[in-house]
Amino acid sequence: MAQLIGGLGTSHIPAIGGAIHKGLQQTPYWKPFFDGFPPIQKWLGEKKPDVMVIFYNDHGLNFFLDKMPTFAVGAAREYVNSDEGWGIPSLEPLKGDIDLSWHIINTLIDKEFDVVTCQEMLVDHACSLPLKLLYPEGNYPVTVVPVCINTVQFPLPSAKRCYALGKAVGEAIRSWDSSKTVAVLASGGLSHQLDGERAGFINKEFDLQFLDSLESNPEWATQFSVHELVEKTGTQGVELLMWLAMRGALGTGGGSKVKRVTGNYHIPISNTATAVLALETV
Ligand code: DHB
Ligand code: FE
Repeated sequence: MAQLIGGLGTSHIPAIGGAIHKGLQQTPYWKPFFDGFPPIQKWLGEKKPDVMVIFYNDHGLNFFLDKMPTFAVGAAREYVNSDEGWGIPSLEPLKGDIDLSWHIINTLIDKEFDVVTCQEMLVDHACSLPLKLLYPEGNYPVTVVPVCINTVQFPLPSAKRCYALGKAVGEAIRSWDSSKTVAVLASGGLSHQLDGERAGFINKEFDLQFLDSLESNPEWATQFSVHELVEKTGTQGVELLMWLAMRGALGTGGGSKVKRVTGNYHIPISNTATAVLALETV
């Protein structure tokens, strides 16, 4: 059976693409953010996952307000990146893993998660930037399965439901009849609000408590309703739902405990509290 080796989390602010394109990684503004990545790159270099299952939110590129699935899973041979214009001008398409996609889709439907399946799927900065940050040299050595969670148009799925989705995805990965190794990746957050009266809102205390909880008490954030999460983390801070799904996939207890490999928290980049985390299953 496939092996689930761990979970990663990173922010996906579009301006990161511009910084990479212009080579600004070592400038005072960007260095504290980019410094979070070498330990993760080293870990990936040692562990060499074959596949990355990416929990992310589409920002109106593949799904717009007229058709907004709560959960959607990619089942494409490749995923073309069409960014929003702030990012890296041209990025290679991400290679899909059709076999794992369908195994995840079948498992989720079996477990009563009625997901949308996407045999064609454009991916935005939320999929492309994390991979570029994790594998800066390009030529990504992983195939991907994108799992999209709606955080754009209400009603949003609850934290409890996203954690359960992640758990089911983790069970699917572990029951995949393959010798491949798989990592799960959360793209988004942490606290941020891009518009409205509270534009620029950041909640460091909550973010740090949330990051801690992912290690020791992963269900902690499932106590909050989506509206409470918006209040505590900002309208776009609900992207932390991706981190919760990622952690759900790693499981708890017997054989699926986690160890923190590395992490970084830095505020702000653009309007956002950025975080980076790697958790290894032990
Ligand atoms: C920003 C953050 C996001 O998560 C996003 O999708 C777009 C912009 C920002 O802080 O600029
Ligand atoms: Fe975002």
